[in-house]
Amino acid sequence: MKGVILAGGSGSRLAPLTRITNKHLLPLYDRPMVTYAVEALVEGGFSELMLVTGGTHAGEFFRLLGNGQEYGIERLFYAYQERPGGIAEALGLAERFVGGERCCVLLADNIFERPLRPVVEKFAAQERGARVILSRIAEEQHLRHLGVAELDGDRIVRIVEKPAEPPSPFAVTGAYFYDEQVWEILPTLEPSGRGELEITDLNNWYVERGQMEADVLDGFWGDAGESIDAYYIVNDFVRNGRRG
Ligand code: DAU
Repeated sequence: MKGVILAGGSGSRLAPLTRITNKHLLPLYDRPMVTYAVEALVEGGFSELMLVTGGTHAGEFFRLLGNGQEYGIERLFYAYQERPGGIAEALGLAERFVGGERCCVLLADNIFERPLRPVVEKFAAQERGARVILSRIAEEQHLRHLGVAELDGDRIVRIVEKPAEPPSPFAVTGAYFYDEQVWEILPTLEPSGRGELEITDLNNWYVERGQMEADVLDGFWGDAGESIDAYYIVNDFVRNGRRG
C-alpha cells in the first residue's frame, strides 16, 4: 500500500498567512504542519510516499523534506498541482505513483492523536472498496465546515459535504483508504459548485455500492486549515502533547 499526502490548495481560510507561504508549511508548535502527516504515515507503516502540492511555495517542501530519509521514508516522490482544483483532482496526480496498489491518502492539515496503523491493518484485510475515519464532533457549527456521515447503525449511507443540517455528529476526517477502482472513478467526477473535484463525491461512489467501511477514531482530531481558530486549537493540542 502506498501513502499520498495532499498539501496543495489555496489555504484561503488562513489568509493573509497563506499569501506568504503554503498552509502546510506554517508552524504547528515547533515544526511545519506537513511533518505531522509525514510522521503519521511513516508510523502507519508506509515507506513510499508521494507529496502533492502546488502554488508559489512548492520548492520549500524540497528544502524541508528532501529525499525523505531523515523522516524515515525510503522513497519520496513529489507531484505539482497546477491549480487548486480540489482534493480529488490532487489525488489524481498520484495515479502512476500508486500503480496497481491500494493507497492511503492523508490531508496535510489533519492532525490525529491516535496512530493510523490499526486502520491501515483493517483496510489491508478488507476485500475491496474504501475506508474512512470518522470523528465525533459535539458542535453543529463545527460540523457545517466538514464532510459529515449519515449513518444507519454503524454503516455510512451518505456523506454530505458542508451540510447546513449535519445528519450526524460524525465528521469524515482527512484520512482515506482506496482500492484500485479509485482511478476509474476519478475521471467520472464533475466539479462541484465551488469548482472543485470533491473527495466526498468519490467517497459517495463507494458508499452507494456498499463498498465503504468506517472506523470511529477516538482521541483528538483537528483540521488546522479550517479557520484561524481551528489552527490555534490544533497548535495548543500539539504544544501540550510535546511539553507533557
Ligand atoms: O479535514 C477534513 C475535511 O477535509 C473533510 O471533512 C471534508 O469532507 C473534505 O472536503 C475536506 O474539507 P476542507 O474544506 O477542509 O478541504 P480543503 O479545501 O481545506 O482541503 C483540504 C486539504 O486538501 C488541503 O489542506 C490540501 C489538500 N488540497 C485541497 C485542494 C482544494 C489539495 O492538495 N489540492 C486542492 O486543490
